[in-house]
Amino acid sequence: MPTDSTSPTKTQPAPLTGGSALVRLGGIGIVLLSVAGAFLYLGGWFTPNALTPARFADEFERVDGIYSGFRRNHAKGVCVSGFFESNGQGERLSKAAVFRTGRVRVIGRFSLSGGDPYVADAPDTVRGLGLLFWLPDGEEWRTAMINLPVFPVNTPQGFFDRLVATQPDAKTHKPDPEKMAAFLASHPETVEAVKIIKSHAVSSGFDNSGYNGLNAFRFIDAGGKSIPVRWALVPVQPFEAASTTGTAQGDKNYLFYGLIVSILQHPLQWHLIITLGQPGDPTDDASVPWPEGRDQMDVGTLTLDSVESEETSPARDINFDPLVLPAGITPSDDPLLSARSAVYSQSFTRRAGEKKEPSAITPSDVRK
Ligand code: HEM
Repeated sequence: MPTDSTSPTKTQPAPLTGGSALVRLGGIGIVLLSVAGAFLYLGGWFTPNALTPARFADEFERVDGIYSGFRRNHAKGVCVSGFFESNGQGERLSKAAVFRTGRVRVIGRFSLSGGDPYVADAPDTVRGLGLLFWLPDGEEWRTAMINLPVFPVNTPQGFFDRLVATQPDAKTHKPDPEKMAAFLASHPETVEAVKIIKSHAVSSGFDNSGYNGLNAFRFIDAGGKSIPVRWALVPVQPFEAASTTGTAQGDKNYLFYGLIVSILQHPLQWHLIITLGQPGDPTDDASVPWPEGRDQMDVGTLTLDSVESEETSPARDINFDPLVLPAGITPSDDPLLSARSAVYSQSFTRRAGEKKEPSAITPSDVRK
């Protein structure tokens, strides 16, 4: 059948009239505005007081300053590596490959809390240990633990408000005691947690310190059964009470130097202890210990036998995000977990894009 060459076909759109061109341009404008709006929303522009990862990172920077290339928290550190030897006991609780009998390689980083990478070591500063377990089939388990028995806050907002309360006063360069008092008055959970923290003896070094995961997680076994757990590393190195003289002797890095000497003498070891929660134990509140007498299981031994400055170790550029978990371990309903993951990512993105300055613990310190 002959076709009318002037009539529109399926492949030839009708010419735009003035009205329909405006409608189409308007549509494109709406799409562009929605995209821009989405970016502004995600950037927190419509909600300047919302607790975004960027606001968290800004606040760390306000309290401690900006140190190019360093973590916004737990900035001072040294890197380690070794292995985890599973004894197979954990397989009953979780199908995670890390609990099958045998060894997996581990890389880690010991740190002190706070955003100043050159801060003087002090016994009461919170000690951290970030670990990455390399599992078969490309899986990873990352965790970051501290030496406190409980966390001082139980919500991201609580963490942020406490950070604000510790901000040094412009004149005295010290935190304003009134601000901290006001924070404590509205955070009874912190008052209770601090009592527990103060009753907990601090050890002399990184090597004979325990490290606690604090946030609850869930283990999933091969049959799909899930139980709440908390984990901790208990040192094989014997406990010795903290010395208060290290800093007084003018040794700014005495805790890190002690760790280096210790690990160069002999491998350091910790038992990985899993505490099993029972129904009713809070899984969303890291400021509260679980009741005494909960079942505990020793699932294997961590051995750290090598130490390196941040400047030469790949651990400097690892984000020990607590939500990088293997199959068999899942997050609990603890609100700190997703906040940690988001803020660590923000800190990582900032530091990854910055020029790297030398770490307090240099490659030559580690070779001493
Ligand atoms: C809302 C709560 C928390 C916030 C906002 C927060 C924030 C941060 C940030 C920004 C970093 C630096 C991340 C990086 O650049 O890689 C960090 C590191 C760290 N955090 Fe947290 N943290 C929180 C809770 C905790 C808890 C509950 C623990 C322990 C149970 C913990 C232990 C650590 C450790 C050990 C590191 C150093 C890890 C490393 O060496 O890379 N944090 N934290």
